[in-house]
Order: sequence, then C-alpha cells, then structure tokens
Amino acid sequence: MTAMTATQEAPTSAATVLREFEADLAVTAVSDAAEGVKTITLASPDRTALPPWSPGAHIDLVLGDDLTRQYSLCGDTSDGTTWRIGVLAAPDSRGGSVRVHELKAGDTVQVRGPRNHFPLVGAASYQFIAGGIGITPILAMIAEADAAGAPWNLLYGGRQRASMAFLDELERYSQDQVAITPQHERGHLNLAECLGDPRPGTLVYCCGPEGLLTAVEQRCASWPAGALHVERFAARPAEPDTEAEKPFELVLARSGRTLTVPAGKSVFNVVQEAGVSVLGSCHEGICGTCEQIVLNGDVDHRDSILTGDERARNETMMICVSRCRSGRLTLDL
Ligand code: FES
Repeated sequence: MTAMTATQEAPTSAATVLREFEADLAVTAVSDAAEGVKTITLASPDRTALPPWSPGAHIDLVLGDDLTRQYSLCGDTSDGTTWRIGVLAAPDSRGGSVRVHELKAGDTVQVRGPRNHFPLVGAASYQFIAGGIGITPILAMIAEADAAGAPWNLLYGGRQRASMAFLDELERYSQDQVAITPQHERGHLNLAECLGDPRPGTLVYCCGPEGLLTAVEQRCASWPAGALHVERFAARPAEPDTEAEKPFELVLARSGRTLTVPAGKSVFNVVQEAGVSVLGSCHEGICGTCEQIVLNGDVDHRDSILTGDERARNETMMICVSRCRSGRLTLDL
C-alpha cells in the first residue's frame, strides 16, 4: 500500500455519492477529546489534497484483515489537506476502537472514502440531537448550518460531562442554541419537550445509541414525512422475512452471469465467490460500501441506511444484508 490512488466512482445512489479513494494516510495528531475519546488527525504523507467531504460523511479505517471500521469526519470541511475523526474506546467491542486509540503521530493507516449516507439537506431550520460519540457527524453539520445562517438547536446527551467530547468547541456558539445534558447531572434528554410539537420546515438530525434513535423515531412519528434523519452505529434490529430467506436467481447484467443466492448466504458473498469484484466493509448494512444499483427485482431491504423513500424507489441495495422477495434479482454488475 503506497501513495493515494483514485479508484472508480462509487455506485450511483439515492444517497450522496462522493468519489471513492483508498490511501495510506499519516496520523499527524492524536489528542484527548474527552474521557475515553480521542481525536485522530490524518493527512496524505506528502500533504497533498484529500478528497472533499460534506457533513455526515464517514471514512473506513482498515485496521487489519477483517477489521475495518467506519468513523464520521468531524473536522473542518474547508480544510483540504487533513481529516479528523473522533473515536470512543469501546473495550467490549471487537477491537477496532482500541486499535485506533493505539495510533500515534507518525503512524500510517489505510483509509477509504469518504462517503456520505447522512447528508445535511437544505432546510429552514434544524434540530440536532446527539448521544455520546454521536456528536461527531453532528459537529460538522452544526458548523455548516451556522455558516449558512440557518437557525438550529442542539440537544446533546452523554453519561457524564467529562465523557462528552467537543464541549469546548461548542462553546463558540450561542449557548441558547446548545443544550448540554449529562445524564448524571440532568437525567435523560427531554425528547418530549424537544420534539413534542412537529415544526414544519425543521429537519431533525440524530446520531447516537440505538435506544436514543428508537425514542427519537417514536417522537417524530407525528412529524412531516422525511423530517427525521438518523445515523446508526449498529444495525437496526431486524424483522426477518422468512419468505425472503428462500433461494433466488441473481442476474449480473454487465457481467452476463446468472447465479443462485441460496438461503443463508448473502448476495455479496455469492458475487464475490463468482469472481466479480465488489467492495464491502461492515457487512452489517450500516456503512454503505457495498451499495449496488438494482435493475429489476423486489428487494427485501435489511440495511440501516436507506430511508423509507429510498427503499420504496428500489434503485439501490446493500448487498451484504439485503435479499430479494421475487424469484429473480438483476443488478448492474
Ligand atoms: S458492507 Fe457495509 S453496508 Fe454492506
């Protein structure tokens, strides 16, 4: 792995598509953002420009064989030469965050992306809600909304103040807009007050643990369709469709191949085993790396990325988890 190499354009998607890069980047700085949270700053070894990104984008850190993790970019979008991520050490996880916390200035790490499945859509105003390390994508969104002069508010919760990252950076904004809610001091986030009355024209952006996302989804059920945008750290709890566990035929339109996807095996694995090159990362339906264009077939979407509208359009699918309800699925592969 040497210098930065541009690879092909990521698949066309209903979500924001950014040019996909893969590179060995240098760690230029590591600092403590809160208890258990470090920020890592990355740059190309020769300090050439990095691909542009927009708030909500994430990158893959390839930390070893079968160890790839996604982290939201949380730096300054106008800084064309460095990227910053904020990483919570989770010792009970599968080791990715611990490995990132071991990085030090001067190390290199393989990086892919950025890609954005959580883009900030233009709106009259914004309600941002962050739980814990979920502040990372929200931080860049706030900067963009504020620079655009859009009214916004932030509700930010965490276990305790000392473990909540970027509190110092939030001090530059009007404190009327920022509600910091450490659970040990003030209890849980007051979602009833924040989201009780739908506000037409306001978009809600939320990132945090599953319990928070579920609660926000319930509160926003009475809001206008499309008002809520969430990003998950982990796969959404699935409701298995036993019908869709049946085998189905998979047609690869560009390769001219017809394959069979058996029950219990992913489209991704079948395609890869057939020797067709596809990219994957999380294999849980949360990162978007494996997204492919659907030409035909009734997709059983099992990812945690696409919105209800995007699912209904049936234009793309995450082939690591999603399957087919009809007997035949055709992909632009
Ligand atoms: S590999 Fe991450 S969504 Fe499929």
